[in-house]
Amino acid sequence: MALKVGLVGMKGIGATHAAAYKEDSLGELVAVCDAVTDRATGAAEKYGVRHYPSVRAMLESEPDIDIVDVTTGGIENGSWHCEPAMEALEAGKHVLVEKPLSSDVLEARAMVAKAREKNVYLGCNLNHYFTPPAERAEQYMKDGKIGELVYCLTKMGFQGGAPESYKAPGSFKIKDWPYFHLKAFLSHPLSVMRHFCGDVMQVQAFLNRPGFRRAAGDTMLTTASVHLRFANDTVGYLLSQRGDASYGLGGWWSVEVGGTHGTFCIENCIEKVSFWKAPDKRGPGLPGQYEPGASEAPEVTSSGTVDFGQTFARRIHAFLEDITNKVPPDQIRASGRDALAALEYTYAIIESYEQGGALVRPHPLPPLRTDPSVLLD
Ligand SMILES: NC(=O)c1ccc[n+]([C@@H]2O[C@H](COP(=O)([O-])OP(=O)(O)OC[C@H]3O[C@@H](n4cnc5c(N)ncnc54)[C@H](O)[C@@H]3O)[C@@H](O)[C@H]2O)c1
Repeated sequence: MALKVGLVGMKGIGATHAAAYKEDSLGELVAVCDAVTDRATGAAEKYGVRHYPSVRAMLESEPDIDIVDVTTGGIENGSWHCEPAMEALEAGKHVLVEKPLSSDVLEARAMVAKAREKNVYLGCNLNHYFTPPAERAEQYMKDGKIGELVYCLTKMGFQGGAPESYKAPGSFKIKDWPYFHLKAFLSHPLSVMRHFCGDVMQVQAFLNRPGFRRAAGDTMLTTASVHLRFANDTVGYLLSQRGDASYGLGGWWSVEVGGTHGTFCIENCIEKVSFWKAPDKRGPGLPGQYEPGASEAPEVTSSGTVDFGQTFARRIHAFLEDITNKVPPDQIRASGRDALAALEYTYAIIESYEQGGALVRPHPLPPLRTDPSVLLD
């Protein structure tokens, strides 16, 4: 039977989530809510469901709801996530939250703890790795075609402003929040890097913004250059910028993971993945053997689309699937804990910047639940 969904926050991204549920046989959108009445009534009419002004009112009238999907935004795109999510978790509902889990790491830790206490599913819309290229890349790793991981190189941009006509953002969510870009956006690259390479043990960051932003009085730090060391000793580098420079190789979004047996690179998030097999038994590096332009062509797998919008429906389907299949709460894809990890790394990046580029160890994550029976044999 389809899981009943109540959606909170019916502005831009709420509509994207609603459309995904409407197309998915594992979920049934039954109610929407928004503190702004027109948004709630407009969405209710559009999707043919009931509407409410708050989570509390929605859950009082719709006790059968299984999942509350929180697509509110707020300051730094995350200050309105905790309150509705906690109300839903407290009521024993499964919760999907847009990223970042919260703009405040203390709130995010509390949300993960509450989901564990209530033994319900908490997921986050870390949608960037719910793509055919990411799945193909995972398969390369599982098949041993990457080998021991050596490095992870990530570049992720965003739409920026034209320098000549640039005006600083006036929205209360963005204006005078220097870490807006980091908190609102870095969940994506950091969660993708962790998805492929595991937990991060140390970060070191340099942050900046270009002169045209300074001249316009914009305080937001839009360029992030981040070194990472993963727990498995893979090294990583993340370059995130808010569209201030034009994109180079890989487009607006590229992740390259290099290993002892091969290397893959995903470009433009959903567009394609290329795979380079290590040349021969002598190991990956033998530059002198190639004439210019004669290096072996990679195996390229294109998805046939550049439509980033598809990542939402794919990620939402995975959440519905994990709940339907009763996957243990700690093991669902893109869990609240996974989103907390990305936020802990973001806070470590900010701390490193504030200490002039110091090496920072991110705050540890809550331990995963383990089944004691695994210790018996
Ligand atoms: N995953 C992605 O690729 C992606 C892309 C863009 C945006 N986002 C995320 O989507 C979220 C929403 O973005 P947006 O621009 O649509 O948000 P927004 O802040 O513009 O709108 C949020 C809506 O929620 C309503 N709201 C806030 N608190 C509420 C509450 N407690 N109860 C009921 N209604 C409430 C507001 O009235 C508003 O209509 C953000 O967290 C953002 O980071 C994710």
